[in-house]
Amino acid sequence: MKGDLPERASQSQPPRRRESFTVPNFVWQFLIVLELLYLLYPTLSSLPGINHFLPPVKQHPIHGHPANCHGSSPSSPFGRFPQADDPFRFIPCTGTSLPPALDDPKPDASWMKLFDPNPNHWSWGNRTATSITAEQQNDPFAGRGIYMCGYLDVPLDYTNKSDPRIARLAVTKFQVTGLSSDHNTKKTERTVVINPGGPGGSGTSYAWRAAEEITERLSGGRYDVLGFDPRGVNASLPTVSCSPHDADRDRWSLEWQKYRAAADSNTKQLHLMDAFHNATLRACWERQGDLARFVSTAFVARDVEEIRKALGEDELTGFMVSYGTGIGQTYANMFPNSVGRLILDGTEYVRDHRLAGGFGFTALDNVTNAWHDGFLGECLKAGPEHCALAKTESGESRTLTELDIWMQGVIGSLASQPLPAYTEKSGPSLVTYSVLVSAIYQSMYNPHSWKALAEMLYELGQGNTTLAGEFLDANWWQYDPSLPCPAANKKTSADDLTLLVVCSDAYDGDYHDLRWWSHLWEDMTRKSWIAGDSRFFVFACRHFATYWPKPAEVYRGDLNHTLRNPVLLVAETYDPATPLRNGRRLAAEMGVENARLIAHHGYGHSSGRDRSACTDGYLKAYMLDGALPAGQETACYADEKPYLYGVKKDAPGSLAAAAAGARGFDPVASWREHLRETRLLGPPRV
Ligand SMILES: *[C@@H]1O[C@H](CO)[C@@H](O)[C@H](O)[C@H]1NC(C)=O
Ligand SMILES: *[C@@H]1O[C@H](CO)[C@@H](O)[C@H](O)[C@H]1NC(C)=O
Ligand SMILES: *[C@@H]1O[C@H](CO)[C@@H](O)[C@H](O)[C@H]1NC(C)=O
Ligand SMILES: *[C@@H]1O[C@H](CO)[C@@H](O)[C@H](O)[C@H]1NC(C)=O
Ligand SMILES: *[C@@H]1O[C@H](CO)[C@@H](O)[C@H](O)[C@H]1NC(C)=O
Ligand SMILES: *[C@@H]1O[C@H](CO)[C@@H](O)[C@H](O)[C@H]1NC(C)=O
Ligand SMILES: *[C@@H]1O[C@H](CO)[C@@H](O)[C@H](O)[C@H]1NC(C)=O
Repeated sequence: MKGDLPERASQSQPPRRRESFTVPNFVWQFLIVLELLYLLYPTLSSLPGINHFLPPVKQHPIHGHPANCHGSSPSSPFGRFPQADDPFRFIPCTGTSLPPALDDPKPDASWMKLFDPNPNHWSWGNRTATSITAEQQNDPFAGRGIYMCGYLDVPLDYTNKSDPRIARLAVTKFQVTGLSSDHNTKKTERTVVINPGGPGGSGTSYAWRAAEEITERLSGGRYDVLGFDPRGVNASLPTVSCSPHDADRDRWSLEWQKYRAAADSNTKQLHLMDAFHNATLRACWERQGDLARFVSTAFVARDVEEIRKALGEDELTGFMVSYGTGIGQTYANMFPNSVGRLILDGTEYVRDHRLAGGFGFTALDNVTNAWHDGFLGECLKAGPEHCALAKTESGESRTLTELDIWMQGVIGSLASQPLPAYTEKSGPSLVTYSVLVSAIYQSMYNPHSWKALAEMLYELGQGNTTLAGEFLDANWWQYDPSLPCPAANKKTSADDLTLLVVCSDAYDGDYHDLRWWSHLWEDMTRKSWIAGDSRFFVFACRHFATYWPKPAEVYRGDLNHTLRNPVLLVAETYDPATPLRNGRRLAAEMGVENARLIAHHGYGHSSGRDRSACTDGYLKAYMLDGALPAGQETACYADEKPYLYGVKKDAPGSLAAAAAGARGFDPVASWREHLRETRLLGPPRV
């Protein structure tokens, strides 16, 4: 297999060097047309902190010009940006603050032109200062944090000093103290560097969506928060994309993303998937040359170290979630003397990722538990006024076992007989086994979506596909044909980046023949009918080394280095992607002097959705004071139960209120909000 493409696979002669340096024009053209994986991502202007709290623009006409001709940026009441010697070149974010193209001969000058001196156009946070002086009352910007946009250039290949290529990392920082008119704003003593997971999740998008909440939750609003788009992701450059059009992805996914139970023949389906994976990696090679050699987690860890240095902080403060915990534990062991206060939530164990298929099969432990005890079990406990699946047509109650059997019958029957559906947006549609099960897996990440899913599945069980059609419509497409052409600045899906990171981390795994993979697929789907197929995307990695025999660097060392400061791990009992077992194995290897683990008893992926005052208390004490829980492992319990979030159980009149709430509940809107949130944190499978 290796050597099929001898010349082009040679590492010493990276093909198409220029292409991987530049973003070809056609990409930009399609950026304009295409909807990416993050189909329902909020647009910048709908993000919190941007439009809602800006004073009306008309009252504040723009003074000055977007740029002047003398090479220095125009001044604002808060001074000029970027400020001298700022390695991130931060400017207050507006909708256009995207890093300059890699082939831009004068990136600094182009960037400076993006500085808009009118503070009414900037993205300010909510007012947080509890006390603003009387004279500040009329100052629309007093007491508000601000979103600052910048970028940092790093080597594309850290291992080859003679390779001049760079990666340009987009960063968004929420600066809690805002800006001051004496031009003297100070950064906070620590900056929380955040990563939402993936691989492929966008840290800048995560910052836009969650930075204000994160600084509040972890530091009582004391620390700045910085999100970065990892190399290959979102606004960072170069962008990884192996299909020029998302519409083509959608065309092929109808064939190859057929789940095992729905395939006519497992062997034929396996061959089809295998051929398509081969074609995908070949396309990545053809279109992006050796770029795949430079996206491993070890290189992302190096990027984080560059970010720490650029922040001018002696130690890294971080909050990294899901696959971000893989970045974090790799970072900690590559740069043990730089570790400050680092929280890893939704913990992976990166030794698993060195194995062929490991990123897939080590995720499956608790998905069925989450479905059975959580989605169905908590539904019955909450009762029919809170969960549609708790009711039966006859009005009798159902046991958990009966409910599970009924549900599996409804879902399983779709494998041989999909149901017709209609949506206003897309016209004729289908409810298929594969798309429904993938949506169920995504829902296990976020118990706030369960009420909507329960309603959809209840109606589906009655043969009504209205809600199923609506919900799944959003899951079918990466390309949104209903968008006007040319649409907003949209990039193609980040799926390929996910694949290239996962496959490069496992490039030297023990790759076996198709029979082995066939057994693995069977095992994974047997272990988890919900996630086994979705996680089997790791099958593609068997072709990685055909095209790129060796990534520039992978981390293969131990994970027990003595750290400057211990890290705090959080793992969840019902996590559908990062089971508690993984966090426990990591904690055991790191040792009690380097890591403490919070076992968060709750639902969903990471501790951010099924919240616990206990967990949050530990996180804050650690972030603010470096305080650690006493034992190696500490248990915390979620405060509320799914289906009953915000419902005060014993409050008088709560039944009536709940009934009124149920009438007002909009399952489609609730589901869309769920998709917005979970897609932000990376492609659905992770
Ligand atoms: C290092 O980069 C130079 C310049 O691009 C290239 O000629 C050389 O082959 C590279 N070496 C390796 C080991 O990749
Ligand atoms: C900002 O304030 C609005 C209105 O009070 C609120 O809905 C929103 O959640 C706040 N955003 C953050 C990040 O706190
Ligand atoms: C980055 O992701 C956001 C979604 O959060 C999207 O709106 C934006 O278009 C993306 N930017 C680029 C340059 O891909
Ligand atoms: C992958 O596809 C190429 C043709 O593009 C073929 O030569 C090669 O044998 C395939 N690899 C495997 C493992 O099937
Ligand atoms: C999670 O999976 C492990 C391994 O199968 C099992 O021992 C454990 O009980 C599961 N946790 C829950 C909460 O069911
Ligand atoms: C099917 O479900 C939709 C959406 O919940 C509902 O509006 C409609 O009345 C239902 N149709 C029937 C025949 O029950
Ligand atoms: C880390 O663990 C290895 C065994 O896997 C051991 O040989 C080594 O001494 C340990 N290192 C430290 C710093 O404890």
